[in-house]
Amino acid sequence: MANKNIRSLSFRKELDDNLFENITDLSHKNASKSEFQELAKRFMIDDSVVAATASFYDFTRESNRNKKIHVCSGTACMVANTQNSLYKNLENHFDPEEIGHAACVGRCHTNNAFMYNDNTYSANNENELGSIIDNKKYQENNYNIGCNTTPILTAEIEDITAFYQLAEVHKNNPKQVIQEIKTSNLRGRGGAGFPFWFKLDAVISAPLNNLSKESQKYIVCNADEGDPGAYSDMYLMEHQPHKVLFGMYMAGLTVGANTGILYIRGEYPDSIRIVGEAISALKEKKLIGDFKFKIIRGQGSYVCGEETALLSSIEGLRPEVRVRPPYPAQYGLFGKPTVLSNVETFANIHWILQNGGEAYAALGTKQSTGTKLVSLDSFFNSPGIYEIEMGTPLKTIFDEFGKGLKSDIKAFQIGGPLGGIVPSDKIKDLTLDFESLNSNGFLLGHASVVSIPKDFPMIQFLEHLLEFTADESCGKCYPCRIGSFRGMEMLQKAQKEGYKIDHQLFEDLLETLEIGSLCALGGGIPLPVKNALQYFKEELKQYFT
Ligand SMILES: Cc1cc2nc3c(=O)[nH]c(=O)nc-3n(C[C@H](O)[C@H](O)[C@H](O)COP(=O)(O)O)c2cc1C
Ligand code: SF4
Repeated sequence: MANKNIRSLSFRKELDDNLFENITDLSHKNASKSEFQELAKRFMIDDSVVAATASFYDFTRESNRNKKIHVCSGTACMVANTQNSLYKNLENHFDPEEIGHAACVGRCHTNNAFMYNDNTYSANNENELGSIIDNKKYQENNYNIGCNTTPILTAEIEDITAFYQLAEVHKNNPKQVIQEIKTSNLRGRGGAGFPFWFKLDAVISAPLNNLSKESQKYIVCNADEGDPGAYSDMYLMEHQPHKVLFGMYMAGLTVGANTGILYIRGEYPDSIRIVGEAISALKEKKLIGDFKFKIIRGQGSYVCGEETALLSSIEGLRPEVRVRPPYPAQYGLFGKPTVLSNVETFANIHWILQNGGEAYAALGTKQSTGTKLVSLDSFFNSPGIYEIEMGTPLKTIFDEFGKGLKSDIKAFQIGGPLGGIVPSDKIKDLTLDFESLNSNGFLLGHASVVSIPKDFPMIQFLEHLLEFTADESCGKCYPCRIGSFRGMEMLQKAQKEGYKIDHQLFEDLLETLEIGSLCALGGGIPLPVKNALQYFKEELKQYFT
C-alpha cells in the first residue's frame, strides 16, 4: 500500500513534467544533493526515492555518468575480442577515468563499438579512431538488409501521407481492427510471443481504476532492445520509423488512447533522433490529429526492457519488476490501462490492416505467422538485418543471407542472454519460429544471433552471462539478486583458482533461479547455462566435481 501511495504521488505530473526526465537531467549536470532534495520535495516524495533512481542506471549513477566515452560491453564485441584493443587505443586519446562502458550499442555487425558525443561508432584501428575523435568524423551505422519473402517490415514507404490514410479507414471500427489482428495471429516480437490482439481487447475492457479520474489510457512502445546482439528494433526505428509510429497510433485509435510513449534505449542516439524527426514530420503534415507522441530516453539498464520495470522507469521510480497481475493492460503507466508492446510488433500493424489478417497468417507457420527480423553478427560473411518468413530453416538463413561464417564457430547464442546456446551441429534441425526453438530446448527470443568461436572458452561465456545478470538484476527477489552473484563467483574461481564447482550445488542454484525468480531475468538465465552444460560437457567437465 505504501508503495502504491508513493507511486501515486510521483504520478501527479505524469509526462508533462516527468520525474524520470527531471532526475536524468540533474544527474547529467552533476547537480548537488540539495538540488535532488528540492526535486523530491516538489514531487512530494522522499529523497530516497530520487536517490534510488539516480543510482540505478549506467548513465546516471555517479561512477559512470561523467565518462567522455563509453565502450560497448555487449556479448558480440566480447566474443569478437575487440574490447581490449579498443580500450588500449582509446588511452591514446583519453585518461582511463574518462572511459566508461555502455551495454550493447547495436553495432554487432562490425564490433569495436563505442558511444561518443551522442553518437555510436566502430573503430577497427587507431587511424579510424583518430578520425572520429580528432576530426569529429560522423560514421553511419551501415549493415546489410535483406528479405526472403513478402517484405512487411523492410519494404520502403513511398508516400507517408497515403500511408497514414489507412488509419482514417479503420479509426471508427475497433472491433474489426482487433478481428483482423486476431486472424493474423500476430504474436509479440519482444520475446514472449503473446497474442497482440488480446492486449488491445484487454485495454478496451479494462475498468478505469481509482487513479484514472478521466479515461486516460496509454500506448507504450518497448524500444529498449536490451539483448546484446539484437539490432532489429534499431533498424526499424532508423529505417522504418513510420511503421512503428503508425502501429502505435492505430493501437491508440482502437483502444481510445491519445498518447503514445516510446521508451528508447539511450545507447541508440540515432534512433532517438530519427524517431523524433518522424514525429515532427507527422505533426507538420497534420496526419495524426491530436494524438501525442513522446520519447523517453533510457539511461542504460537491461531490466528496463521487462515491461513492468519499464513502466516504473518512466514513472521515475527505481525500476524494480512488479508482481503481475495486475498486467499493464489493467494497471499500466501511471496506473492507467496501457497497451505495451515491442517495436517490431507495432511495425506489423499497417501491413495487416492493409492486406488483411488472412494474408498475414498465410505467411510462416500455423502458430508462428508472418515474418521475423533476424540480426546476424560480425562472424557472418554478410552480417546484417534480414526479414525472414517464419518457418524458414536456420541453415538457409545462415548460408543464403549470412553467406556462411568467417571462422570456426562452435555455438550460437540465439535470442539474447536469456535465449539458448545452440551448438553449431543443431542448426540444421531448427527453423525460425517459436515452436521449433522451444521444442528443442532453446528460445526464439528477439532472434539475434551471436556466434561463439571455437576457441572462446565456454566457461568464460557462462561467466559473462551470470555477470550480466548480476549487473542487471533489479534486486527485487533474492534468487536472482544473490544467486546470480554466487554463480558468477563460482565460474570465476573455477577459471582463476583451480576451484572445482560442486555439480549438485550448481544445479541447485540453477533450479532456485529458475523456479524462485519473479521475472525472466533470473528465471531465464539457467536455460543457456543448462544448454552449455549439456552440449559442452567435455569442455566444461574440468571445472566441476
Ligand atoms: C529482463 C527482460 C528484458 C526484456 N527486454 C525487452 C526488450 O528490450 N524489448 C522488448 O520488447 N521486450 C523485452 N522484454 C519482454 C517484455 O517484458 C514484454 O514481454 C514485451 O515488451 C511485450 O511486448 P510484445 O508482446 O510485443 O513482445 C524483456 C523481458 C525481460 C524479463
Ligand atoms: S528475477 Fe532478477 S530482475 Fe527479475 S524481479 Fe527478480 S531480482 Fe528483479
